[in-house]
Amino acid sequence: MRMVDLIEKKRDGQELTTEEINFIIEGYTRDEIPDYQVSALAMAIFFKDMSERERADLTMAMAHSGDTIDLSAIKGVKVDKHSTGGVGDTTTLVLAPLVAALDIPVAKMSGRGLGHTGGTTDKLESIPGLHVEIGREEFVRLVNEHKIAVVGQSGNLTPADKKLYALRDVTATVNSIPLIASSIMSKKIAAGSDAIVLDVKTGAGAFMKTAEEARELAHAMVSIGNNVGRRTMAVISDMSQPLGAAIGNALEVREAIDTLRGNGPKDLEELCLALGRQMVFLAGKAASLEEAEEKLREAIRSGKALAKFKEFIKSQGGDASIVDDPDKLPTATYRIEVPAKKDGVVASIVADEIGTAAMLLGAGRATKDSEIDLAVGLILNKKIGDKVVAGESLVTIHANRENVDEVIEKIYGNIMISDQAAAPTLIHGIVT
Ligand code: URA
Ligand code: CA
Repeated sequence: MRMVDLIEKKRDGQELTTEEINFIIEGYTRDEIPDYQVSALAMAIFFKDMSERERADLTMAMAHSGDTIDLSAIKGVKVDKHSTGGVGDTTTLVLAPLVAALDIPVAKMSGRGLGHTGGTTDKLESIPGLHVEIGREEFVRLVNEHKIAVVGQSGNLTPADKKLYALRDVTATVNSIPLIASSIMSKKIAAGSDAIVLDVKTGAGAFMKTAEEARELAHAMVSIGNNVGRRTMAVISDMSQPLGAAIGNALEVREAIDTLRGNGPKDLEELCLALGRQMVFLAGKAASLEEAEEKLREAIRSGKALAKFKEFIKSQGGDASIVDDPDKLPTATYRIEVPAKKDGVVASIVADEIGTAAMLLGAGRATKDSEIDLAVGLILNKKIGDKVVAGESLVTIHANRENVDEVIEKIYGNIMISDQAAAPTLIHGIVT
């Protein structure tokens, strides 16, 4: 097989066979096929698209390009949740104990990554003593015993995707539905779960700027999952403004505790229930999505979800007393209010820019090696559609330095107040 012929084939809009796709991904992983040929192929895919079968083949080829995780020693249906990224997205911290409280195994592998805040593992590490560096056997034991464990990412997962994603980044081929869908799904499949729930974000803070694009991506990923034998569902959710109120690591742990108590921000709770009910349904613990949601609500009402969070913290060496006494979490030295300059209604809160404001405080990593300040971040006191009076606080800044002028400027530049505005629709659709 010659790579040049395969590029030509795709350039002319023909389908690649399973063998051809495997040849490309195996050759590329072993550095036998050069970047320039794969760039040309990625551009051809960008313009000519891929069939459902090609997308599934590409996903599986990338999933098997490195290590895969075997969770078969864990009893029950393992359901993973994945979000396409957003600002202040606290859903994993809520969903992991909430779903585990219904005896569904949650075997969560989570990265640190770059972003406005740390990843789930960083957020959890704001709990004193809690550690996520756990060996594979211990991980399995913890999930079997407690139904929940969170481990830091390790091993050589999907090297083909890592190379291809980096290449796409510099060849203007990131924004291709078949390439994005196979990239995300390959990682989920390598991580070993039986079923997958996807939270596809749309809006300023998201990869997919319109609900239409998000829907297309959601359909593409759900088809791939179902075609390769992993039952998959998706929720399309709004990320035009940050989710919930908290953006920051320890601040989001507090927010998750509030939500597990039933006192969290309404949008965060609504999205957690929308995603959670798909997880419960796919795990086979409810006959319908409605029944699944009722079980989740009951786990919150009865305190079982909160108790599960405590059990989880303890099992990974953490101080579970932070749940009843969140002041034991890292706390910033300064609290600075950002008052509204006029009366009106909040019309927009530009999610990615507000995320950047949190990052300027030190809540997230700019480079792989930057240190995170777990205590700092932002609390949004108003969301889109809320009335404000001049002088009322829009945002509370939690900082470990006195001068936060640039952060304040960024906040004022990205929260608009006008005469009228309505809260955006949170859930744009579900794909099953
Ligand atoms: N996230 C991924 O993991 N892959 C893509 O291609 C795009 C976003
Ligand atoms: Ca949040």
